[in-house]
Amino acid sequence: MAKELCVLAYSGGLDTSVAIRWIAEKYDVDVIAVAIDVGEEKDYEGIRAKGEQVGAVESIVVDAVDEFYNDYITRALRANLMYENKYPAFTALARPLLAQHQVRVALEKGAKYVAHGCTGKGNDQVRFEVTYQALAPQLKCIAPAREWNMTREQEIDYAEQHGIPVPVGKKSPYSTDTNLWGRSIECGVIEDPSIEAPDDAWEWTVSPQEAPDEPTYVKIAFEKGLPVALDGEQMSGAKLVGKLNEIAGANGVGRVNMMENRLVGIKSRELYETPAATVLLAAHRDIESLCLDRETMHFKPYLELRWSELVYYGLWFTPLREAIDAFMEETQKTVSGEVTVKLYKGNCEAVARKSPNSLYDFGLASYGDEDTFDPSKSKGFIDIWALPAKVTNTVRRKAEE
Ligand code: ARG
Repeated sequence: MAKELCVLAYSGGLDTSVAIRWIAEKYDVDVIAVAIDVGEEKDYEGIRAKGEQVGAVESIVVDAVDEFYNDYITRALRANLMYENKYPAFTALARPLLAQHQVRVALEKGAKYVAHGCTGKGNDQVRFEVTYQALAPQLKCIAPAREWNMTREQEIDYAEQHGIPVPVGKKSPYSTDTNLWGRSIECGVIEDPSIEAPDDAWEWTVSPQEAPDEPTYVKIAFEKGLPVALDGEQMSGAKLVGKLNEIAGANGVGRVNMMENRLVGIKSRELYETPAATVLLAAHRDIESLCLDRETMHFKPYLELRWSELVYYGLWFTPLREAIDAFMEETQKTVSGEVTVKLYKGNCEAVARKSPNSLYDFGLASYGDEDTFDPSKSKGFIDIWALPAKVTNTVRRKAEE
């Protein structure tokens, strides 16, 4: 009789390679490895081959880069996705997409199990499993790294006994996660938050001290809240993000160093590199400030905060996330135009902007000859605006007498 199937989210690294064998043995199932490309530049053919080599009955690669941009990053931009004011939440953003593809494969193949390599201390386990449960609650989840209780040394022994290649040379002192929207760095010396992060943690960004002495300017054209051209050249969103990661990274832009509150209740020290996200969010906020009316602009951040929490907490497939998205999309109808961003030694600043939908009225704003504003109208406005303050304070003073 054929064995039950388990579909594993596979990265090609040691943990998920060991997981293939461990799951197969422990649960007596056949494992299908699925590697999903969300913009980390890796040798996916090599990863696919390795999956089979270490024991998967089938090894699949899914190219989801454009899907990640079109269905996830675009929404993140419209909603200015940012967790705790610093983290563009790119890992959180990609997890539901990975889990979604895993579930799709599991249903196509008639699998009984899905599996991921996340530990029991992080947010990622939550994001994977909430998505499994939302999309296909009949699937059973296996979380080997949470179940096997192996130390690093035991894991390497296990790998050697099972003919699983162990990366040679010095193991990276860090644990990283990478996609089109950013790169995260955890573990090793970073875990001591009282010490500055060492230089070797950074890969996408140069140190601001070593960045060029002349600023770099980039012009980003937006249509309905989304970038459509870089320096006058139209290109796909995914390509634009890739280019900006390089340009901004070379100027030392996009380093994040923070204490973060995980959903599972732990505080952790995190490093992130998000050059393109930093530039695009700055530019997007800037074009919004030109095109959105004051009340929409003041209200939108409340929902941005809530949307960002939902994404960080793994609640992508929920009605509230969708409803807030609908609000965001509505606000972006007029958010079109061009922003000039200046990149200089780790700084990123929107320095100029223009839009066919600009709400800036030169005649109203100017103190020069073109002034069209009638200042005499302000007097009556202020008298009425001040009325509640005038009345309450008058009453208060009388009571104090
Ligand atoms: N702290 C971040 C988050 O929770 C990054 C997690 C990185 N994940 C990883 N498997 N290395 O979203």
